[in-house]
Amino acid sequence: MENFDFHVTTDIRFGKDRLDELPQVLNAFGKNVLLVYGGGSIKKSGLYDKLYEQFNRNDNNIVELAGVDPNPRIETVQQGVQLCKQNAIDVVLPVGGGSVIDCSKAIAASVFVSGDLWENFVLPKNYTGPALPIVTVLTLAATGSEMNGTCVISNMDAQIKLGVHGESLLPKVSFLDPTNTFSVNSYQTAAGSADILSHLMENYFNATPGTEVQDEIAEGLMKTVIKYLPIALEKPDDYTARANLMWASTLALNGLIGKGKKGSWSCHAMEHELSAFYDITHGVGLAMITPRWMAHILDEDTIPKFQRFAQEIWDVEEEEPKRAAEVGIQKLYEFFASCGIPMTLPEVGIQREENFEEMAQCAVAHSSISNQGFVPLHEEDVASIYRAC
Ligand code: NZQ
Ligand code: ZN
Repeated sequence: MENFDFHVTTDIRFGKDRLDELPQVLNAFGKNVLLVYGGGSIKKSGLYDKLYEQFNRNDNNIVELAGVDPNPRIETVQQGVQLCKQNAIDVVLPVGGGSVIDCSKAIAASVFVSGDLWENFVLPKNYTGPALPIVTVLTLAATGSEMNGTCVISNMDAQIKLGVHGESLLPKVSFLDPTNTFSVNSYQTAAGSADILSHLMENYFNATPGTEVQDEIAEGLMKTVIKYLPIALEKPDDYTARANLMWASTLALNGLIGKGKKGSWSCHAMEHELSAFYDITHGVGLAMITPRWMAHILDEDTIPKFQRFAQEIWDVEEEEPKRAAEVGIQKLYEFFASCGIPMTLPEVGIQREENFEEMAQCAVAHSSISNQGFVPLHEEDVASIYRAC
C-alpha cells in the first residue's frame, strides 16, 4: 500500500426530512446564495418548492442559475461566475446530480480565477486556489461529487471533457436524502449505478499490491449496488434500495477505496472522449466500455484479479482461472444489459467509426493510461476497445 493523506471534511447530512437544517447550514456562510440546478427535475419533484420554504423563513437572497446540462459546459460556468460577482454571493448551492454539482464547484473556484477560465482553471487540471463554500443537495446516486474535490467540465467547441481536482472544491456540507432520488427514471438510475460500479472497478483493478482493505470494501460496495439496482428499477420508491445506492455512490469516490493506490483509471479516460465527441450519458458509456476493456487486457498477469472478481462478485464456480475470469466479465455485461443499459454504440446513435482513431489519440493525450493504467493502453488499444463496443 502507498502512503496517503485522507482528509475528507464534508459534513454529510444523510436521510429523509432534513431540509429544515438548511437555513442554519447556509447561515454559517452568509445570506446570498447562488442556487444552481439542471433542466427542471427539481421543479417536477417538488424539491424546488421545499427549498423555497426554507429560504423564505431564513430571509435568504437567492440568485438562480438554472439549466445546467448533463456534461456541464464551460459557458455555464462563466455565466455562474458573473452571477456570483454581480450579487456578492456567499455560498453556492447545487441541487441536482453530478453535473449540477460539478458546474457549481467550477463556478465557486472560478470566481477567484482571472483571465480565460478554460485556459486557467480547467486545462491545468489541479486547482490550488480558494473557492466559495459549496453546500450540495444530491438528487442522483452516481458520481460521488457530493463528497470529493473533483469537477468534470466540457468544452463542446473543442470537443474536450476534463476533470479538475482541488481541495477547495470539496463541498462543505452535503444533504443526502434518498427520497430525492425516487423520481430518477430507470435509464438514469441504471447509468448512475454503472458509474458507481465503474468507480469501484477502476480502483479495484489496480497494480498496487497489499491493498486488501480497499479491495474488500470495494467488493462489498459492488455487491451492494448489484443487489439494489434491480430493486430500485422495479420499485423506484424503495427507500432501502435508494439509500444503499446513494451511500455507495458517495463512498465509492470519496477516497476511501482509492487512496493508497497509484496508477490511473482507464475506462473513464476512454468514456470522457465518447462524451466529448458525442455528448452521451457518462454511466452508459462506462457500462459499454468496461467489459470490452476487461476482455482486451485479460492475460496471464491480470487473470488472478479477474478470477477473484468473478468469484467474489458473481459467485462464479468455474475453477479454470482464465475461463472463470471470462465468465465474470460476461456476467458484468449481462448485468448491465439486464438493467436496460444500451450496450453498443449504435444503440446510442454512434455509427461513425472515423472518429475512433482521433478519440483514441485524445484519450491517451488527456490521461496517463499509456504508462499508468492497470495495463498500459496505447492508441491502438483504445481504438480497438471503441470498435468492440
Ligand atoms: O437536469 P435535471 O432536470 O436535474 O435532470 C437530470 C439529468 O437530465 C436528471 N436527474 C437528476 N436528478 C434527478 C433527475 N431526474 C429526475 N429526478 C431526479 N431526482 O438526470 C440527468 C443526469 O444528471 P447528471 O447530473 O448529468 O448525472 P450524473 O450525476 O451521472 O453526473 C454526470 C456528470 O458527472 C461527471 C460526469 O462525467 C458527467 O459530466 N462525473 C463527475 C465526477 C466527480 N465530480 O467526481 C466523477 C465521475 O466519474 C464523472 O466523470
Ligand atoms: Zn464516473
